Amino acid sequence: MGQLTGKTAIITGAASGMGKATAILFAREGANVVLADLNEKGGEEAAQLATNAGASCVFQRTDVSSEPEIAAMVSRALKEFGRLDITFNNAGIGGAVGSVETVSFEDWDRTQSICLRGIFLGIKHSAGAMRATGGGSIISTASIAAFHAFPHLHAYGAAKAGVINLTRSSAIELGRSFIRVNCISPGNILTPMVYGVIPATPAEIDAQFAKSQPIPRAGQPEDIANAALFLASDASRFVTGVNLTVDGGLTLGAIDGGVTGAIEGAPPVRNSTFRGPSFEL
Ligand SMILES: NC(=O)c1ccc[n+]([C@@H]2O[C@H](COP(=O)([O-])OP(=O)(O)OC[C@H]3O[C@@H](n4cnc5c(N)ncnc54)[C@H](O)[C@@H]3O)[C@@H](O)[C@H]2O)c1
Repeated sequence: MGQLTGKTAIITGAASGMGKATAILFAREGANVVLADLNEKGGEEAAQLATNAGASCVFQRTDVSSEPEIAAMVSRALKEFGRLDITFNNAGIGGAVGSVETVSFEDWDRTQSICLRGIFLGIKHSAGAMRATGGGSIISTASIAAFHAFPHLHAYGAAKAGVINLTRSSAIELGRSFIRVNCISPGNILTPMVYGVIPATPAEIDAQFAKSQPIPRAGQPEDIANAALFLASDASRFVTGVNLTVDGGLTLGAIDGGVTGAIEGAPPVRNSTFRGPSFEL
């Protein structure tokens, strides 16, 4: 028996990257999945892969910024599978890029409509369906950009920071209905989102990402899928309102080649097993 046997999940942004990996993992663990995305071809293919992994999965074309389309996505889950236990609000875009002085009003709003409004709508429309069967788990994808400032990513960072606080406020409100609300903040993960914007080959990006954090390998979509599985399953049944950072240690602080073992690019430090008073160093 899988960890999600008998459950129904919705995953947005499921045509690609982390959402696709999560759909396949959830299906392997026994959940029936509604895969929602703007990308119809990729979504249908991912739904087939998830079905092949062992459960009944369907694709629903959805723009997460649209309230009627989010409502239709939830209705599809109820119509196909009769219940809703898990919603993974994961769809996202990089959105507006540029100086805070030049980003256009329209690009700012478009970014918020997908990266923040889309999450709000997913929580709003999932809660009632979950309450009807005694509870559920809502998971959203934030980002390390929520608490690490990146120049020229103002709209994205602001939206993702909003996701973390919306997670917390919703968790307070929905807890008494046994609906848990949590989010995941990925670090550098190899998905089409990054392959599409970094001017290097996938192999070069892999190698660069492997050096970007204390754990010396590139983050994979499956790393996020595994975190989502924990938050979706009963293993986390007393966990709500948290932001689970999954970044190989990227945001822990300055990396120290002396302690962690010569991470490329780290400043050189004196090698020792104990650091006493500075005057003795
Ligand atoms: N890749 C990273 O390093 C990274 C880091 C931190 C956070 N994230 C976040 O992870 C989530 C998943 O991204 P990914 O890296 O797997 O990228 P991805 O591009 O592979 O997947 C994102 C999916 O969202 C879909 N999508 C975009 N706009 C949509 C809309 N309006 N309605 C429905 N679907 C839409 C895309 O079609 C795509 O299938 C995003 O929220 C992203 O912001 C990614």
